[in-house]
Amino acid sequence: MNTKEKRNSFSGSLGFVLAAAGSAVGLGNLWRFPYLAAKDGGGLFLVMYLILAFTFGFSLLMTEIAIGRKTRQGPLTAYGRIHPSAKWIGVLGCLIPMIIMPYYCAIGGWVIKYLTGFLSGQGSAMAEDGYFSGFIGETVSPVIFMIIFLAICAFVIFAGVNKGIERMSKFIMPALLVLVIIIAIFSLTLTHTDTDGTTRTGLDGLRIFLIPNMEGMTAQSFFSVLMDAMGQLFFSLSVAMGIMVAYGSYVPDDSNLNKSVTQIEIFDTAVAILAGIMILPAVYTFMGSEGLSASGPGLMFISLPKVFAAMGGAGQVIGCLFFAMVLFAAITSGVSIMEAIVSSFMDRFGFSRKKAAGLETIIALVVGAIVCFGYNLLYFEQTLPNGTTAQILDILDYVSNNCLMPLVAIATCILIGWITSPNEVIGEVEKNGVHMNRKMLYKMMVRVIAPALLVFLLIKSVGLLAP
Ligand code: PHE
Repeated sequence: MNTKEKRNSFSGSLGFVLAAAGSAVGLGNLWRFPYLAAKDGGGLFLVMYLILAFTFGFSLLMTEIAIGRKTRQGPLTAYGRIHPSAKWIGVLGCLIPMIIMPYYCAIGGWVIKYLTGFLSGQGSAMAEDGYFSGFIGETVSPVIFMIIFLAICAFVIFAGVNKGIERMSKFIMPALLVLVIIIAIFSLTLTHTDTDGTTRTGLDGLRIFLIPNMEGMTAQSFFSVLMDAMGQLFFSLSVAMGIMVAYGSYVPDDSNLNKSVTQIEIFDTAVAILAGIMILPAVYTFMGSEGLSASGPGLMFISLPKVFAAMGGAGQVIGCLFFAMVLFAAITSGVSIMEAIVSSFMDRFGFSRKKAAGLETIIALVVGAIVCFGYNLLYFEQTLPNGTTAQILDILDYVSNNCLMPLVAIATCILIGWITSPNEVIGEVEKNGVHMNRKMLYKMMVRVIAPALLVFLLIKSVGLLAP
């Protein structure tokens, strides 16, 4: 059987770039990036993230997409095709989305809650202090919203309406970008005066976000920022878990991988930075530096409603639009996470699509409910090796992004850098006459720099190396 002919493929480079961007741009950019940047004090996190994105992120994204296109296989079998000893990378790569999906749904549920809140005109109530913690502290309602988000993703997977989503992305993604720019600009115009007379402005906040502040920096805090930036990069680009291998396997042979990878990266990074400009200045204006450092996963849900409230009547409309688009971006990403799991189940166990999707829905439902209960029934405080206090959601996030993804990335780099050769990837990119940029950098990255950095970070992340 000729698998090449049976595999459906993207209609062209644009279809591929949009689908990959749909997977990449999601809660990672809008929710995760700003809260990590705030927690890590802005500037330094941003600089590290950018450096990593255009060296390391570029290399990894290119590698995975090229592996996919070369082998024309999903992740579970693709790595084995490259080298028989590398099969396990695909297995691990399938476990990671299973860990991410439940908490992605929990946050997707929060987005739905805020969207319905704005739609029913409760925008100002949601801007009040304590609203968010009150909501996640409830036992039943976060679970219900989580289930709604999961149901939407499962529906898309069951009904196979991915094509429709792809088409809608063409309009919604650019619209999201415009909206994010408008809110970001507004955020910069905010001012707030505390009861003691101190005034802070959005521009002060922007400075904190853009300019690294090394004051009081210790080796320990430097490395936690680096670890955060690295974990964020994996999450945001959807790499190190096989998703991009799967997407690569659908890319036509004549498309220009060099250009596509650059486009995906620029789009993903731009949305993240804009989300930072949208959220950080606002948090700083209303809550000061303490507000920034005390921020956690709730940041987007606490600070943005305040920005919308400050906008007056228009803020209510913008709030509706904004959360609607975040929801859409989250769905396109959630679907890609679920698709990765479902296709792996189908390949590995020979399940039908329905059975695989049903099974994953049940798993995500159960674990997702446990994640929601982590803020009430099952509440505890666990200190992670990077010093942050975590609940169940943060633990799943940490285990996948800071421990397992680096492991997959190390293995991928060793596989391509040493066991086979970087020329496999370069050859795949250049086979249709395309010139691959940054070739030397690419070789250095996969062979030496990335694995060395990753091993070091992994050891730190799992807490083996004391501060
Ligand atoms: N990259 C997506 C985001 O930024 C999340 C995601 C993670 C998607 C893993 C697929 C796989 O939200």
